[in-house]
Amino acid sequence: MTQPASLAPSPAAPDAELPLIEVEHLKTYYPIRAGIIRRTVGQVKAVDDVSFQIRKGEVFGLVGESGCGKTTLGRTLLRLEKATAGQVKMEGRNILAFKGDDLKALRRRIQVIFQDPVGSLNPRMPVSDIIGEGLMAQATAENGWADRTARDKRTGDYLEVVGLRRDYARRYPHEFSGGQRQRIGIARALALDPEFVFADEPVSALDVSIQSQILNLMSDLREQFNLTYLFVAHNLSVVQYISDRVGVMYLGKIVEVADVADLYAHPRHPYTVALLSAVPDPDPRVRKKRLVLHGDVPSPAKPPTGCRFHTRCWLREQLGNPEQCSAEDPAPRDMGGGHQVACHFAEQVSKSVASETIHGVIASKTQETGPVVAGA
Ligand SMILES: Nc1ncnc2c1ncn2[C@@H]1O[C@H](COP(=O)(O)OP(=O)(O)OP(=O)(O)O)[C@@H](O)[C@H]1O
Ligand code: SF4
Ligand SMILES: [Mg+2]
Repeated sequence: MTQPASLAPSPAAPDAELPLIEVEHLKTYYPIRAGIIRRTVGQVKAVDDVSFQIRKGEVFGLVGESGCGKTTLGRTLLRLEKATAGQVKMEGRNILAFKGDDLKALRRRIQVIFQDPVGSLNPRMPVSDIIGEGLMAQATAENGWADRTARDKRTGDYLEVVGLRRDYARRYPHEFSGGQRQRIGIARALALDPEFVFADEPVSALDVSIQSQILNLMSDLREQFNLTYLFVAHNLSVVQYISDRVGVMYLGKIVEVADVADLYAHPRHPYTVALLSAVPDPDPRVRKKRLVLHGDVPSPAKPPTGCRFHTRCWLREQLGNPEQCSAEDPAPRDMGGGHQVACHFAEQVSKSVASETIHGVIASKTQETGPVVAGA
């Protein structure tokens, strides 16, 4: 497809290693109210003291069980939820304090792609209005988006960018398939020329055959427009496919962050090890022992003391239930090469994994990639 002149990509970022987003000790709590006067009787600690960075131009994947706070974290970055504490810096400035024109400009620079391509598009609006609405809200004298013809041209341009026909702008959401609707959602986000996109389970509601098309489109668009993504998914294979780095979330905390290859080959947190043990290996020769976590995820309104994972941790059990796990909240620490882990006994994980947990996988991978437990 020929790219319209107005959509020419910006030059490659020279400082790709620099952080675009810096999250520092971020907390987002929801009040629990009860009684006739709706008194606050507690708090759901959906995001609880989270710190990490997203580099310019990267795809940062976020995984974790349902209810661990992934959506709340993304919505807080977008300023759609009010943070209880902490900072989110974008190019050094705390965006949580933005007001007025700064906030309006931020709403353009940070966009979202939703999980549900049906629910996220207004069924009563044609595509031209669905995409044009955001352009109108961000119209300035410079971009000229207040003009209907300019908005319609841009809408058509971006429909083509996502692989749809310009004349689809006249149609309504029900006239499209699920994959096409998600393409419209992507066009709506990108038409505003964002730098950072929060993609919240963007392929979870789609057929498997369509998922890879949308993932490939998102990867291409990242290159074309120098985008940075925060990409949330349940499916670890999807996250592995698209991400440069991955954060693993458990009950409001990020427990592990690493480069994607490092994390999948050398998980250092017992929770990550358990999540990965549940991913089927495409190689039928690989025998994989699944680690089943005991019990339910505790309530974020009453998280366990110390390490939040201690009520379900297989490693703690193996180590004879050390008191430190239930008494002290483990701070994230660097295990080398930017691999951050919040576990008091992370050094024991590799030994444990190698000796018994997912032995079949380790053995087969070792032949291809060298010893998995090197440096353990
Ligand atoms: N508006 C709200 N008011 C009160 N509690 C909320 C609100 N939104 C989310 N929560 C709670 O915050 C916690 C985190 O929810 P969140 O939706 O961020 O999780 P998630 O990781 O995105 O889950 P999923 O994978 O199911 O989408 C959950 O316990 C949820 O019930
Ligand atoms: S700190 Fe203890 S309970 Fe927490 S993950 Fe590590 S071993 Fe498990
Ligand atoms: Mg969610």
